[in-house]
Amino acid sequence: MNFEYFTPTKVVFGRGAEEQTGALVKEQGGHKVLVHYGGGSVVRSGLLDVICRSLDAAGLSYVLLGGVVPNPRLSKVREGIRLCQEENVDFLLAVGGGSVIDSTKAIGYGLANEGDVWDFYDRKRKAAGCAPLGAVLTIAAAGSEMSDSSVITNEDGWIKRGYSSNYCRCRFAVMDPELTYTLPDYQTQSGCVDIMMHTMERYFNLSDNMELTDGISEALIRTVMRNARILKQNPSDYNARAEVMWASSLSHNGLTGCGTGGGDWASHQIEHELGGMFDVAHGAGLAAIWGSWARYVYREHPERFARFAEQIFGLKEDGSVEALALAGIEKMEDFYRSVGMPTNLKELGINPTEAQIQEMAEKCSFFGRRTVGVMKKLTAADVEEIYRMARG
Ligand code: NZQ
Ligand code: ZN
Repeated sequence: MNFEYFTPTKVVFGRGAEEQTGALVKEQGGHKVLVHYGGGSVVRSGLLDVICRSLDAAGLSYVLLGGVVPNPRLSKVREGIRLCQEENVDFLLAVGGGSVIDSTKAIGYGLANEGDVWDFYDRKRKAAGCAPLGAVLTIAAAGSEMSDSSVITNEDGWIKRGYSSNYCRCRFAVMDPELTYTLPDYQTQSGCVDIMMHTMERYFNLSDNMELTDGISEALIRTVMRNARILKQNPSDYNARAEVMWASSLSHNGLTGCGTGGGDWASHQIEHELGGMFDVAHGAGLAAIWGSWARYVYREHPERFARFAEQIFGLKEDGSVEALALAGIEKMEDFYRSVGMPTNLKELGINPTEAQIQEMAEKCSFFGRRTVGVMKKLTAADVEEIYRMARG
């Protein structure tokens, strides 16, 4: 299939890369910088000091705004927009993970466009630009450092929505694998699931796949699995951190979707409602949903799931294609369990009521205005059924 591939982000990767941050902002023409960060991990690790020194050394002035929470909130975005307007900020620097980068992107939209920034996430209108931004990544997971998306939660109704456009691509991404040593194991593993899922969402589709794209995807998934296991034992293994960090970017910069039509994304849409309502870690939420989604849809294209079983787990057909497809799904769930990730909602630590399931499915279908997924176009009723299957 025809495709466009656009990845304008300059990547500076490796030990000590964060020391170049000031120079990178300067290279992009920034003068007054917003340094945006999360709940304090970058303060505790000393990274924020390193970044501030680097900005000082480049002769740049800056204002700080911390307090971004996982599943980042619209209220913080609005606070950031106001602050940047008051302070005449002309460059946005995210220091953190997907939540901080996404909050930064949303601030960028707010600065470059008139009116309410939520309109873009609510699909009321399209952004015509975004203030320039860069990222210093502290967790390998969401891939926001090279993706075209940002996902924000509106506390008014607890609606979590993504918005994608090329305007919000980071000008640069600083990636030092050592910055991820301090991650709690749960966040490391949750990140690994998210990385794998960004490729798996693209891998499971109905098109005639490209051999090269499939090969890159399968190598990426196997690499992340192998290194997730290593990090379970040794969180300070530099090579494993580096493999996973680079996978985070390649998995969500479009590379693993080239020529295959854009992917399914139903698991992500279904999970975002869990994040919006229950504030769960995104990758863990995906692990809890994926098996139920896969069992619900695999009959639409069992050959794809069978190939997955062969290429990722080395399984061989012994009976039917369907049996091989199912065996692959089970193996993936075994893997999730082996790294401490949930495979249902109970293991995720939540127990949605029937009313909550219906509410999430309604929101997921944009109140009946859309279906989700391409393997099978899922209506609100299908999504409800997947939540029920995932209850555990
Ligand atoms: O807030 P702090 O104190 O920094 O703690 C964070 C947070 O609690 C902590 N953390 C991050 N780096 C750390 C660290 N703790 C110790 N040491 C470090 N080096 O980790 C926790 C999770 O951080 P968060 O930024 O929320 O993680 P992640 O990168 O997984 O981002 C998740 C968000 O990204 C969205 C998700 O929906 C979710 O809201 N996504 C964004 C995408 C995109 N923009 O392209 C695509 C994804 O599919 C995803 O939907
Ligand atoms: Zn994701």
